[in-house]
Amino acid sequence: MMKMKFFVFAAAVIAALSMTAVPASADLAGKVKKAQKQCNTCHSFKAGKKKAGPSLHKVVGRKCGAHEGYKYGKGYKKACKKAAFVIDEAFLMDYLKNPSKHLKKLSGSKSGSKMSYKIKKEDVRKEVITWLKTK
Ligand code: HEC
Repeated sequence: MMKMKFFVFAAAVIAALSMTAVPASADLAGKVKKAQKQCNTCHSFKAGKKKAGPSLHKVVGRKCGAHEGYKYGKGYKKACKKAAFVIDEAFLMDYLKNPSKHLKKLSGSKSGSKMSYKIKKEDVRKEVITWLKTK
């Protein structure tokens, strides 16, 4: 009888532990999926194909302003000219958090980004960047 009680208790503990662990990661996965969906509305992943934004085909490691035929915004062009940035992980961590703020910081001007979408959560940004590298 004691054994049985202990077993029930242990099972309850395990259930409680897994209940807190699973929704946390499922929550992150859900947020990442949502963000990816947003990228897809404004960006294509086909080489050279522009939508509202430039193609994100192999974008990680690309030099700024490299999408031929895409009309980058004023703030973007200023930042690219001044800082000659490369779209690497460090750039993306700041850019995706707040595109306009980051471009303004790089250019020292008041013109922001044409991209208004922001990802506030750091863990979501990290996952999105890992995903971008596969594109
Ligand atoms: C509402 C439309 C919109 C959404 C949503 C959006 N973007 Fe953008 N994105 C743009 C536009 C427009 C630009 C061009 C920025 C400029 O010229 O100022 C851009 C530029 C970029 C650039 C720079 C590309 C280059 O050639 O320098 C990257 C990287 C990028 N977006 C990544 C993303 C990612 C990742 C997501 C999803 C998390 C995303 N964007 C969501 C519109 C969007």
